Amino acid sequence: MKIGVIGTGNIALAVIRGLCTASGAPQRVLLSPRNTQKSATLASEFQQAEVAPDNQAVIDGSDWIVLAVRPQVAHEVLSPLQFRAGQKIVSLIAAVTLDELRQLTEPATDIVRAVPLPPVAQHIGPTAICPMDAEVAALFDKIGTAVPVADEHQFNTICTATATVAAYYGFLGSISDWMVNEGLEREASDRYLAALSQAVAADAAEAVEIGFEALITDVATPGGMNEQVHRTFREKGWFDPIHPALDAILARYEHDE
Ligand SMILES: NC(=O)c1ccc[n+]([C@@H]2O[C@H](COP(=O)([O-])OP(=O)(O)OC[C@H]3O[C@@H](n4cnc5c(N)ncnc54)[C@H](OP(=O)(O)O)[C@@H]3O)[C@@H](O)[C@H]2O)c1
Repeated sequence: MKIGVIGTGNIALAVIRGLCTASGAPQRVLLSPRNTQKSATLASEFQQAEVAPDNQAVIDGSDWIVLAVRPQVAHEVLSPLQFRAGQKIVSLIAAVTLDELRQLTEPATDIVRAVPLPPVAQHIGPTAICPMDAEVAALFDKIGTAVPVADEHQFNTICTATATVAAYYGFLGSISDWMVNEGLEREASDRYLAALSQAVAADAAEAVEIGFEALITDVATPGGMNEQVHRTFREKGWFDPIHPALDAILARYEHDE
């Protein structure tokens, strides 16, 4: 497979690093000259990666094209380019819809949106994909967990869930502050919580089979400490703001499109 990248920035770097270190790596990766430093880094790391002289050369030399420029410049960058019918377009660009992509990349019609996260460089993390596409799902399954969905509303809903990561860190940071107030060194409390989060994340994979409520039941023994904290949070309504906060983010995604 020959993959071309338009917009060799942070997320493209992570995706290409992931793919080139996974099994069945692409035979060739053709990179846009921008960003100069990132494309040169990838070309020096992987023998199949090469910096093209310009964006059109990326398209002319590739079967699959990964679009990874920022949304603000997407129209300006993509409009002058000549795509081919039969090329597969994988757009990582937030807030540029399938309809817009069809116009920008015609005569190509095989277009998929995807939202990987930087840990794909280490072959972990989810990548939402829309519309469902077995080939693109197989590509992102090599570097994490592909989650294909049927339409752009579902896709935006998944993107919205991704906006909770800072809040996870805020939750952990608040626990860490409390531990430090109780006399622990910051390094010890942060090291403990980082390892606890990794353990919890490993168990959370079971939710796919049994659901999150069952996981809560598993850890919250009646009358036990976990049950007490969870019940306190519920009784105080501390989970209640989650849905309105997510509604507001979803509205931003759907308004921006
Ligand atoms: N970062 C994430 O975790 C993430 C996850 C999923 C999706 N996305 C989406 O992916 C896209 C890129 O995000 P990013 O975080 O990777 O941003 P970024 O690091 O700024 O990457 C965008 C790249 O596009 C390059 N570029 C600008 N003009 C160009 C042109 N005319 N031709 C070719 N390349 C050009 C920029 O080069 P210069 O540096 O030279 O300006 C930059 O390296 C965004 O649409 C974002 O929504 C990001």
